[in-house]
Amino acid sequence: MSDIASLVASATAQIDAADSIEALEAQRVQLLGKQGQITGLLKELGSMAADQRKAAGEAVNRAKDEIGTRIAARREQLEQAVLAARLSSERLDVTLPGRNGSRAPMHPISRTSERIAEIFARMGYELADGPEIEDDWHNFEALNFPPHHPARAMHDTFYFPDGRLLRTHTSPVQVRYMRERKPPFRMIAIGKVYRSDSDQTHSPMFHQMEGLLIDETSSFADLKGTLKQFVDTFFERDFAMRFRPSYFPFTEPSAEVDIRWEQPDGSARWLEVLGCGMVHPNVLRQCGIDPERYSGFAFGIGIERFAMLRYGVNDLRAFFENDLRFLRQFA
Ligand code: DAH
Repeated sequence: MSDIASLVASATAQIDAADSIEALEAQRVQLLGKQGQITGLLKELGSMAADQRKAAGEAVNRAKDEIGTRIAARREQLEQAVLAARLSSERLDVTLPGRNGSRAPMHPISRTSERIAEIFARMGYELADGPEIEDDWHNFEALNFPPHHPARAMHDTFYFPDGRLLRTHTSPVQVRYMRERKPPFRMIAIGKVYRSDSDQTHSPMFHQMEGLLIDETSSFADLKGTLKQFVDTFFERDFAMRFRPSYFPFTEPSAEVDIRWEQPDGSARWLEVLGCGMVHPNVLRQCGIDPERYSGFAFGIGIERFAMLRYGVNDLRAFFENDLRFLRQFA
C-alpha cells in the first residue's frame, strides 16, 4: 500500500514536470502502457491471496484513475500552451501599413466623367441615371426611330432573346427623365453604352454623356453658348468651334460639333467631338410634353473621345486593357 502511495506521488510530480506533449506521452507509457508500472501492479493481483486482493485491487485501480486524470489535465495544459504559442507566433497586425504603398489612381474614364459632371453641375444641370438593359421603346421608338428606320442600322445593337437590348446610347435617359417631370429642367446622364463594334477607336462598351434642357425660351443660340462654354472649360482653352448640319432622329435641326485642334507642330485640324440639336417635337410628345409650349436642346458626347484628346491617348482600347503601366500615368 505504501508502495502505491509513493508511486502515485512520484508519478504525479513527473507528470506535472513534463514540459512537452511527447514527454508526457512517454510518462503515460511508462505508467499505464502494456509494460507500465501500474499495469505491472494489476498483473500482480492475480498471484495475491484472495483476502488481500480486493483491497489491493481497489488501491491500484484508484491509483490508475488518479494518474489517468492527472495525465489528461497536464495534456490539456500543454495543448493550451502550444496553441497560445502558435497564436502569438502567427499573429497578424492588421493595423500595420502595407509594404508596397502604391495607391491606385482614379481610372481616366472615371476622372473624365467626374470632370464633365462637375462642369455641368456648375451650370445647374442635374445628374440623372437610367438602366443599361433597355427596351426598344426607350432606346429607339420614343426617340423617333420608328421600326425599320434606317438610322437603327447605325447602332449595331446587342439584343437579348426577349427583345430587350443593351442601350446603344444614353439618349433613352432623356426619355425616362422627361416622362417623370414637368419642365423646365436641365439634366445630364453619364454611363456605359454598348455597340457591336471594335477597333482602334471603337470598343463594344464605351461611355457617353447625354445633356438635355427643356424650357419655354431656349434656342439653338443657347445650345451653342452652352457647348462652347463646356468645351472651353473642359480643355482649358479657347477653341474655334464649328457646327455642321447633321441628322439624328430625335433632334431637328441636328448638328455635329467640331473643334479646331492645334497640333504641337503648329498645324491644326477639325475634330468632331459631339452631336446635338433641338429636341424633336415627336420626342416631346412621346414624353408627355407639349411641343407648342416647350422646346429645348440635347447633346451627346463620347467620354472616351474627350479623355483621348485631353490625355493624348491614341488607342481607345488602352482604357480597357487594365495595363498598370498605362493606368499609373494618371496618378
Ligand atoms: N445619341 C447619339 C449617339 O449615340 C448622340 C447624340 C446626338 C445625343 C445628338 C443627343 C443629341 O442628345 O442631341 O450617337
